[in-house]
Amino acid sequence: MSKTWIDLAYLIASVLFILGLKGLTHPRTAVRGNLLGAVGMLVAVLVTLFDRQILGGVFGYTLIFVGMVIGSAIGVWLAVTIRLESMPELVALFNGLGGAASFLVAGGYVTAIPVSSTPFDVSLATAASGLIGAVTFTGSLVAFAKLAELPQLKRIPPIPNPKVTNALVGITSLILMLVCAISGAHDAAYWLLVIVSLALGYCLTISIGGADMPVVIALLNSYSGLAAAATGFVLQNNVLIISGSLVGASGLILTDIMCKAMNRSLINVLFGTIGPTGDTKQADEVYANVKATGPDEVAMLLDVARRVVIVPGYGMAVAQAQHAVRDLANVLIDKGVTVEYGIHPVAGRMPGHMNVLLAEADIPYPLLKEMDEINSSMEQTDVCLVIGANDTVNPDARDDPKSPIAGMPIINADRARTCVVIKRSLSPGFAGIPNPLFAADNALMLYADGKQAVLDILTALKDT
Ligand code: TAP
Repeated sequence: MSKTWIDLAYLIASVLFILGLKGLTHPRTAVRGNLLGAVGMLVAVLVTLFDRQILGGVFGYTLIFVGMVIGSAIGVWLAVTIRLESMPELVALFNGLGGAASFLVAGGYVTAIPVSSTPFDVSLATAASGLIGAVTFTGSLVAFAKLAELPQLKRIPPIPNPKVTNALVGITSLILMLVCAISGAHDAAYWLLVIVSLALGYCLTISIGGADMPVVIALLNSYSGLAAAATGFVLQNNVLIISGSLVGASGLILTDIMCKAMNRSLINVLFGTIGPTGDTKQADEVYANVKATGPDEVAMLLDVARRVVIVPGYGMAVAQAQHAVRDLANVLIDKGVTVEYGIHPVAGRMPGHMNVLLAEADIPYPLLKEMDEINSSMEQTDVCLVIGANDTVNPDARDDPKSPIAGMPIINADRARTCVVIKRSLSPGFAGIPNPLFAADNALMLYADGKQAVLDILTALKDT
């Protein structure tokens, strides 16, 4: 296939990616957007297979075909078996593998091309691919381990003086990147850069704790795109440059949105030093006066309420309670109650997690209110029903400057007239800290699985 046709097909694929991204900006057009992006990727892959330049040496059709079959089988198996609440871990792994692919492909180039024939701009792109790809790989593996809450993580000793360590490893990586670029992407310099950058990815993410992970994941997503774009420059492959830049730019925009949502600075995120490291209160003290309730009492409260706000969190995803929640809301709406959903930008474990869940249950989008909007009407709310949310409704973030999540904006569930919290126990959320909301004077705890609790309330409500 001639270069003109290949470039034309790459252009079509790139336009499909852009239209796909545009479609993903709204739930109504998201499915179509996803499809357009997938078609774009199919075009890009097929055209690349016809690009004779790429299919040189040992990398013939057979090897590529075997790789595609194995990769597709793993992909289909993951897509079919993954539980929705585990999606963020999967996305973290995908980011990491994207980073690994970038530094390995650039490494392949370094090994295959003689140093003397590499122009400076290509050497620089190769070095950038090595650095960013390797950081993305180990950073994403750590993010995966944190999201999956692997117990082994707790046994890893903390990095001594993380700020200084990160700075030293970061500066070493940058120096090696320059050496690599100036030396014409010399083999030894490149692989040394990759090893140090692998350490940098680990250092930057391992010390970031608790509730700050969303920002890191968005940033790693952006890094995986930047690494791919750099590899595109190495291979002189236009579609890789464009798609990598799209992922890099959209990831950065998402990081910025996350930073604002978490009240964190982008500079601190970039250098792996986000989040105050305050003291964690003792759960026994915080939970001295917790009041438990049951489905019947909650049904009675809802029966006389005029305005109800539902605040979903990660636990709703685990319980798969979204359909039951929709049925409960519909019964209340039929009784003339105003029902709205308060959506915290980092509720759950991935951006838009709650929106996806609630859309899956066909809950009308206009009922979903962003944090600021719902907070402005919280004082006029008779019952706030918190379902499986914890950190995102923790008043310490607002009231206690020493809290590890201080400064993170929250949904002010504690300001409703009555707040009912549905969760199975007093266990902490992702940030691992106690939540004084559970012991507030106006709060009642309904200890149960999210879905079962909502179904029980629904039954009780129908009986009242
Ligand atoms: P969390 O603070 O993580 O709390 C979730 C709560 O759900 C837990 O306390 C748990 O308590 C409860 N739960 C678990 N399974 C349940 C079930 N089957 N039924 C009822 N409750 C259940 O949730 P959140 O308020 O959504 O906050 C999200 C946290 O994750 C934040 O710290 C955020 O920074 C972090 N994070 C978010 C993202 C993104 S992008 N959204 C990414 C990474 C990390 P029990 O065990 O007692 O039931």
